[in-house]
Amino acid sequence: MKKIIVAIDGYSACGKSTTAKAVARQLAYSYVDSGAMYRATTLFFLQNQINIAEVKQVDNALKAIHIEFVFDEKEQVSHTHLNGLNVEQEIRKMYVSDKVSEVSALPQVRNAMRYNQQKLGSLRGIVMDGRDIGTVVFPDAELKIFMIASMEVRVQRRLLELQQKNEQATAAQIQENLLHRDHLDTHRSENPLRKASDAFELDTSHISFDEQVDFILKLAHQKIYATV
Ligand code: DC
Repeated sequence: MKKIIVAIDGYSACGKSTTAKAVARQLAYSYVDSGAMYRATTLFFLQNQINIAEVKQVDNALKAIHIEFVFDEKEQVSHTHLNGLNVEQEIRKMYVSDKVSEVSALPQVRNAMRYNQQKLGSLRGIVMDGRDIGTVVFPDAELKIFMIASMEVRVQRRLLELQQKNEQATAAQIQENLLHRDHLDTHRSENPLRKASDAFELDTSHISFDEQVDFILKLAHQKIYATV
C-alpha cells in the first residue's frame, strides 16, 4: 500500500497535535510535531541568550542545535530531545510560548527547520502538524488539513492543558498570548500561516475528538487507495 503525507496546519490550540497523533497511530505512521522543533530552538536561544537580531549568533546557534523525537515505549509517545536532553515539558511552558513566534519568524530558523522536516518525511508515511506544512514543507502532500476553532474553545483547551501541568496562567493571559501568536504567525514575511488552496478545512469548535480524527482518517483512506 502506498504511503502518503498528511499535513495538518492551523492556529495554536486548535487541537492539531492530539488529533495528528491519533491519526498517525491509526495509520501506523510516524508523527512529527513541527511546533516542538521551533519550541526547542527557542528554548536553546533563551538558555544561551542568543540575540535574534545578530545573524551570525543565530547561525552559530542553529549549528549547535540537534533535535530528535525519541519514542518512549512505556508511555507510547515521542518526546522532544534537544541536544540529547528530554525537553518535552520545558518547551510547553509559557516563557517559551511567549518567545516562539519571534524566533520562528527568522528566515534562517525556518530554513533549518524546513530542511530537517523534509528529511523526516522523505520516506512518506508521516503525519506532520504545524503552520506551513501543506504550503511550504510538503506542498505535494497527498492530504492537507487546515484546522480552526473559536477563540473561546482555544483558550479553554490551553487553560486545561496548563492546569494539568500545574502551570499558572489566567484565561486573559492565554487569550493575549494566542492573539499575539496568531498575529505573528499570519503576518510574518517568511511562510506565514495560511490555508493551502487544496487543504480541507476542519472546524473543531463543536465536534468531538473522535469526529475530528474520523474526518481526517476517512480522507486519508480515500487518498491512500486512490494512489495505489
Ligand atoms: O504548534 P505550536 O503552538 O507548538 O507551535 C509553536 C510556534 O511555532 C507557533 O507559535 C508558530 C511556530 N511554528 C511555525 O512557525 N511553523 C510551524 N510549522 C510550526 C510551528
